[in-house]
Amino acid sequence: MAAAIDPAAIKVILGEIAEETLALRRVGKVASYIPELAGVDPEGFAVSVAFLDGRTAEVGAVGETFSIQSISKVFNLTLALGKIGDVLWRRVGREPSGNAFNSIVQLEQEQGIPRNPFINAGAIVVSDVLLAGHEPKETIAETVTFLRFLAGDESIVVDKAVAQSEKATGNRNFALAYFLKAHGNLVETPDRVLGVYFHQCAIAMSCRQLARACLFLAADGRDPVGGRRIVSAQRARRINALMMTSGMYDASGDFAYRIGLPAKSGVGGGIVAVVPGVGTVAVWSPGLDATGNSLVGSLVLEKLVQRTGWTVF
Ligand code: DON
Repeated sequence: MAAAIDPAAIKVILGEIAEETLALRRVGKVASYIPELAGVDPEGFAVSVAFLDGRTAEVGAVGETFSIQSISKVFNLTLALGKIGDVLWRRVGREPSGNAFNSIVQLEQEQGIPRNPFINAGAIVVSDVLLAGHEPKETIAETVTFLRFLAGDESIVVDKAVAQSEKATGNRNFALAYFLKAHGNLVETPDRVLGVYFHQCAIAMSCRQLARACLFLAADGRDPVGGRRIVSAQRARRINALMMTSGMYDASGDFAYRIGLPAKSGVGGGIVAVVPGVGTVAVWSPGLDATGNSLVGSLVLEKLVQRTGWTVF
């Protein structure tokens, strides 16, 4: 691992990378299967690096919020492990799926046990674990409160229009949830669990907030700025391992090869990457590649890693 570099120097590098990738912002396709996301400006762009000492290096619209979508799965996994611990792994696997994030086929072949907590089926089980007899509203509030705490920012909210839009069109997720239920891997009703799932995905955050919120994963589970322990060092290491192996879905292998950092993407175009011992990088560019990951976002991270040596390998 290379030593941390001066934030001012990193900002210069980020500016260069933004310039180099500018023309590619319209190459990726903005997610349209959630109608409310289809209207997002493909030119939107931000990258925020948060260092362990609280300093940042930022370029672009770093305060602009976007739909975090699947990035929420990292935070709900953290909460669910805090709630029930390793018992979770009786209901969800820890292997990369090699399939699309919303694929159903594996779920039937593997008796309703999703491959990992980041594909949609796995995240739906995690939402069920968190719901556990509470009202969906309370469970959603728990996630939002956790994020506000981690980011040190009370302004984080759910974009209700996105949640509604996803509920109205989320037939694949309903199919996954009913499948899970049929296999006895959902305690609550699909409707209530998906109420939680759609709202967690519809949380809106900025790159600045996301980078800050993930800092504990770069610092052995402790918030390096506030000083509070969020999870044990072992748990932080394990969440990072899951992000490395499954955080980018069926592109996780390619991402590890090109970038070599634990990361989690969302179809809103965000990616958060963890640089253990250095900090976190949140990048946003709505145009997606064929695997549903931000095309420019991945490229920005690849270029940043090449220039800084920030990789775990
Ligand atoms: O369930 C869905 O399809 C979305 N709410 C989340 C998918 C997602 O972000 C996949 N990430 N690249």
